[in-house]
Amino acid sequence: MEPRKLKRIGVLTSGGDAPGMNAAIRAVVRTCIYHNIEPVGIMRGYQGILDKRFIGMQSHSVSKIINKGGTMLKSSRCPQFKEEEVRRQAICNLNEAGIEALVVIGGDGSFRGANALYEEFDFPVVGIPGTIDNDIYGTDFTIGFDTAINTAVEAIDKIRDTADSHNLLFFVEVMGRDAGFIGLYTGIATGAEQCLIPEYHTDVDKLCQYLVNERRKNKTSGIIVVAEGDDAGSAHEVAAQVKERLPHYDTRVTTLGHIQRGGSPTCNDRVLASVLGNGAVEALMKGWSGVMVGQTNGGITYTPFNQACTRHNLINKNLYEIAHILAL
Ligand code: ADP
Ligand code: F6P
Repeated sequence: MEPRKLKRIGVLTSGGDAPGMNAAIRAVVRTCIYHNIEPVGIMRGYQGILDKRFIGMQSHSVSKIINKGGTMLKSSRCPQFKEEEVRRQAICNLNEAGIEALVVIGGDGSFRGANALYEEFDFPVVGIPGTIDNDIYGTDFTIGFDTAINTAVEAIDKIRDTADSHNLLFFVEVMGRDAGFIGLYTGIATGAEQCLIPEYHTDVDKLCQYLVNERRKNKTSGIIVVAEGDDAGSAHEVAAQVKERLPHYDTRVTTLGHIQRGGSPTCNDRVLASVLGNGAVEALMKGWSGVMVGQTNGGITYTPFNQACTRHNLINKNLYEIAHILAL
């Protein structure tokens, strides 16, 4: 691939926001400026291309955002971007604004849109994985995951205090519509009795047997972490099924919800976002396109969008087994 001389690169955030997206925007902007490329911020994801919401960025435009949650460029869902005619209009708008390449920060849905721009119009585009779910193939961790699990762990530790004091059995729902990374990591880190995640079938009878087994027979307090997408239902539904079978348990339910998506990013997320933001611009300069930049085993990797969109990060089976072994 021939190196590409670029004059102007656009950057946008799309789909569900994640802590660390600002750090990634900052890295893209500053890397561009370092290489004498003009960075252009695009507001509200793909919708901003259609609405021509392009903002010239300077180094100071991204000052003091590395520690901020959310995204200064805002995010949106833009369903009409799934139509080819709409994407054609987007390409016209980008050409008109002199934007020669794009960095898309988002999840697999956003990469499907990015891949369409690359495949249909040969437009240079590189993706950066930003989602708290950690379910994107081609990177060990996505931007936002580390912050989300630390937020959830802090909350569950607090719930544990009151659960112990009052002998309550808590069902704590964490995010993860399709993926159990948040559930598994927070379950292990908080010493949860069980973590129920979408990747493994939940048998409520077995869960109840575990709760009353010989080792636990005098214990009526505890924490069950339930990922949003678990096949036994929401935390409320699982709690109701357990209560029906074990009425002597005093159960409570807490849904952590969107607090997991906000807040100041952790050090790990800031560093990951900085590395990937830099890697995305350097890839575009090398003439690469249609790929997502990730970090695997400490090194920078580039994965074609068609793999990043269609495959998923798999839960480490060993980690899942350890969670069970340690929850005696
Ligand atoms: P995430 O990027 O977090 O997975 P979504 O799945 O909501 O979030 O996708 C974000 C946006 O990406 C969508 O609102 C839409 O604009 C665009 N998008 C998603 N899927 C496609 C697709 N198949 N073709 C084109 N654009 C898409
Ligand atoms: O993609 C991240 C995520 O937090 C999922 O885990 C969750 O199901 C979803 O976003 C909720 O997003 P929204 O409230 O925007 O629909």
